[in-house]
Amino acid sequence: MEQSREEFLEQFGGDYGYPDAPRGVDQMRAADFKRLQGTVYLDHAGAALYSEPQMADVVKDLTSNFYGNPHSQSDSSMAATDQVTAARHQVLKYFNASPRDYKCIFTSGATAALKLVGECFPWSRESCYMYTMENHNSVLGIREYALSKGATALAVDIEEDKGLEKNHGSPSSGLFKISRHSNQRRGGDVLSQNCQNGSLSTVSENNWNLFAFPSECNFSGQKFNLNLVKLIKEGNLVGLPSQQQQGQWMVLIDAAKGCATEPPNLDVYPADFVVCSFYKIFGYPTGLGALIIKNEAASLLNKTYFSGGFVLPYLISMFYLSYNLSLILFLNLCNICRNGSCFNC
Ligand SMILES: Cc1ncc(COP(=O)(O)O)c(C=O)c1O
Repeated sequence: MEQSREEFLEQFGGDYGYPDAPRGVDQMRAADFKRLQGTVYLDHAGAALYSEPQMADVVKDLTSNFYGNPHSQSDSSMAATDQVTAARHQVLKYFNASPRDYKCIFTSGATAALKLVGECFPWSRESCYMYTMENHNSVLGIREYALSKGATALAVDIEEDKGLEKNHGSPSSGLFKISRHSNQRRGGDVLSQNCQNGSLSTVSENNWNLFAFPSECNFSGQKFNLNLVKLIKEGNLVGLPSQQQQGQWMVLIDAAKGCATEPPNLDVYPADFVVCSFYKIFGYPTGLGALIIKNEAASLLNKTYFSGGFVLPYLISMFYLSYNLSLILFLNLCNICRNGSCFNC
């Protein structure tokens, strides 16, 4: 192994191990990941490893502070509520999402966040669920919700001409080429008939379509150009059924993989939904993710299920609050605050 390492360093040594960071990767590993001695771990991108100082900090916090059920008014409850609020702000900041425009809903992972979007999206028979072929299974799962409401599902490949972007700088639909796979629809294929005839019946402006793509594919490592967000929302991508034909588009970015290294900047790429998963960033806690949702998108979703021990959402009747907290999560959320500095690693 030592020999392979020498060969590797000879070839890539200049770029290896965060050369510009205060501590290189070898130093970090020796000091903060002592348990790895003598082992090789090749899945850090799939499931990041928690560091030992991080866990010591988490244990210190949980054993020296008293966190109660965040759904009530005692001091211990308020301490937990403060942590949850702080965690929510940190997550929004990580995505450069203004709290004025976006909400952060904690979930049990990226899959649960995607399922929530699929369940609550305002599908109609005229809707289209379009997704890139390179996608996680959990994104494909949304297809079932769309099809069950009579919508059309459509897989596409997106090719990008990187040379063109270099020359022109600004995003343009010409940079991307969309190739469609066949439409899927239960009980008749209205969308494809419409598209093929070229004589499209006008669909109500209030018809909603969803486009989903990963910021980074966890299988191929391909990073998608986030300029797609604006082009899709404006109905400006060649090959996309036009806005007049199809109503309006919302865009979902699956950032579960990409957010560990490059969280989408929502101020620049204003997607309607972004999902993420925290074990891919911090390693611990597992079973915790988030749906970052634009306020306008949240107001369009159909509430299907009330959960958690909060009475407030029932009274206030705002969509996002009904998914606000579950009792299982709040201690994990305290850990997000402890791990907050890892957002900046
Ligand atoms: C791109 C992508 N999306 C979604 C998921 C699912 O995430 P979770 O395990 O939080 O449900 C993963 C996990 O590997 C992923 O890499």
